Amino acid sequence: MLCVQTDADLTALNTFGLPARAKHLLRVRSVEEARQACAFLAGRPAGVCGSSLILGGGSNLVLRGEPLDTVLKVEIPGRCKLDQATSSSSLLIEAGAGENWHDFVRWTLDQGWPGLENLSFIPGTVGAAPVQNIGAYGLEVAERIESLDALDLASGELERFDAAACQFGYRDSIFKRQPGRWLITAVRFRLPRDWQPLTRYGELARELAERGFSEFDLPAPLQVSDAVIALRRRKLPDPAELGSAGSFFKNPVVDAGQCAALLAAYPALPHYPQPDGLEKLAAGWLIEQCGWKGRRLGPAGCHAQHALILVNHGGATGADILRLAASIRDDVFGRFGVELEPEPVLI
Ligand code: EPU
Repeated sequence: MLCVQTDADLTALNTFGLPARAKHLLRVRSVEEARQACAFLAGRPAGVCGSSLILGGGSNLVLRGEPLDTVLKVEIPGRCKLDQATSSSSLLIEAGAGENWHDFVRWTLDQGWPGLENLSFIPGTVGAAPVQNIGAYGLEVAERIESLDALDLASGELERFDAAACQFGYRDSIFKRQPGRWLITAVRFRLPRDWQPLTRYGELARELAERGFSEFDLPAPLQVSDAVIALRRRKLPDPAELGSAGSFFKNPVVDAGQCAALLAAYPALPHYPQPDGLEKLAAGWLIEQCGWKGRRLGPAGCHAQHALILVNHGGATGADILRLAASIRDDVFGRFGVELEPEPVLI
């Protein structure tokens, strides 16, 4: 039976710890309950469904504070290997959308199924991972997703999306562009059997080298995971101690001409060539140069260890976070002529 809580406090359900309330909080623990939630939404008065929200771990959103009508908290469990779909070159693993992402990654590693270790220690759920195409240390989850199931809350139909249909981009997918429409119920991952550590990301390569690994003594998957965990612990705030939603801005992508002009003025600017000839710039560097690293605006602040992360020092509202974000965007644009785009979903 679908569990419906009324007048729910959402503060503890978003990692930023921002206050907001929902008229109804529905805890969805199975595909059947997802269908019941869909019927519940259909019964709400016209117009209020616009203020509904599908919630996983709440680690990639900013609640502005306006009351929401209905929140669907996805808690569908399950992890298994799909034996009929494994082959000599790869394995197929399925997980329920409500599984904790990091626990799922470590479980795959414990089973001896590597491939997701670079994405260790990312907050959130399995079902939220494809929505923003989580990525870290040289890997995006899109590279490992075979397909997923999502309930269309508009039609009530359960649909299967292959990776192409998900329309993945940098921190982007069809699900992020159509908020409130698709409730992801399960995700399938294709993991390679001929595993090689992915060490193209400089910071990870340095961490592994410091731990004594080299091309002659490659790390095992769990050792890569441990190195990633150590890097993230060092730089990113623990949401249990300091509210945040991870990177607050996407790394901006500019054309080669603008990048060259910026490099002429700022030779130290970190930049990463993209396959399409564009250049991705490090937003954290741009923000730090504007003097924001470690600064506060009321209860909202820019993290002292990583300028791309905005934090709630206690008691901040969505409006406080957005005020700080707007000041940072204005300063970066004023100095570098580069537009920063928020990475979390603004509700
Ligand atoms: N940098 C600074 N100052 C800062 C922060 C970073 O100068 O305060 C510089 C670093 O020195 C480095 C460059 O910026 O040269 C890039 O920094 P980092 O390696 O920390 O990665 P990032 O581009 O800031 C991205 C993802 C992270 C992911 C890391 C590691 C985005 C928006 N963020 O951050 O993802 O963990 O790479 O792969 O793409 C997230 O999406 O929430 C997230 C944390």
